[in-house]
Amino acid sequence: SQLIRNVRAIIVRNQTQVTAGQFAASPKLEIVGRAGAGLDNIDVEAATEAGVVVTSAARENSLSVAEFTIGLMLCLARKIPGAHADTRQGSWNRTQFVGTELSEKILGIVGMGRIGMLVAQRAQSFGMSILAHDDYVDPEIALRNGLDVRMTSLNTLLSRADFVSCHVSLTDGTRNMFNAERFQKMKSTAMFINASRGEVVDEMALFEMLQDKKLAGAALDVRGVEPPASSLLREFDNVIQTPHIAAFTVEAQQRVVAAICRDVTAVLRGGEALNGVNFPRPLYRG
Ligand code: MLT
Repeated sequence: SQLIRNVRAIIVRNQTQVTAGQFAASPKLEIVGRAGAGLDNIDVEAATEAGVVVTSAARENSLSVAEFTIGLMLCLARKIPGAHADTRQGSWNRTQFVGTELSEKILGIVGMGRIGMLVAQRAQSFGMSILAHDDYVDPEIALRNGLDVRMTSLNTLLSRADFVSCHVSLTDGTRNMFNAERFQKMKSTAMFINASRGEVVDEMALFEMLQDKKLAGAALDVRGVEPPASSLLREFDNVIQTPHIAAFTVEAQQRVVAAICRDVTAVLRGGEALNGVNFPRPLYRG
């Protein structure tokens, strides 16, 4: 709090929590820039009450996350990380790494925002059938974007999909949405992908499903606690783990930094933030 007492702008990534207490402790604060899309580490309500602009890079890394999701799906289907690790040890175990094709499989996309849409577009070109679920978006959104996606209930999606990929924001409504009950609805041959937020998954429930072989695999780029506090999910050959890097490409990071710096500079010069999520200018200037 000492550090931010006199600052007019703060730029954070996803690990720094910007809390109500910090807004109270920073009377000169005009703008918080979130160098990324998720706003779960910022108390936007408190910012709004304090009259502070919150700006984020909501679109800038979507493509990278979508491409990474397809990468994870291919890695799961073709066991690429396991084959690489094994071959690196000097082995040549071809029969151990028989995979499945993506073509003609069903992909279930939970969360049909920008990233979900880009994943659908790419998966369609692999010949996958796509089911999607989203409580908020217009059900015609995929159709209007020229995509052949069937919007369904979450239960239908979970019970039919060969791959389930999660692309929701973290909110009170999505926290632990992938719990034991939901995982149990999935096919035992299905695989689960999460490159959204770790907190949407009940990791113990996922562990139990994998241990009981009620799920064929999982790819997790994000975890409830980062770095993960527990080593439980590390034990499985059919679990791929990466350290929250879906958005980490040179291109996405350049776009994110440019967008945030543009808004922060504009506000500090008395102008408006183009991507302000609450308002474009601070309500009170210090
Ligand atoms: C995002 O929310 O933009 C991604 O998870 C990447 C990040 O937080 O840095």
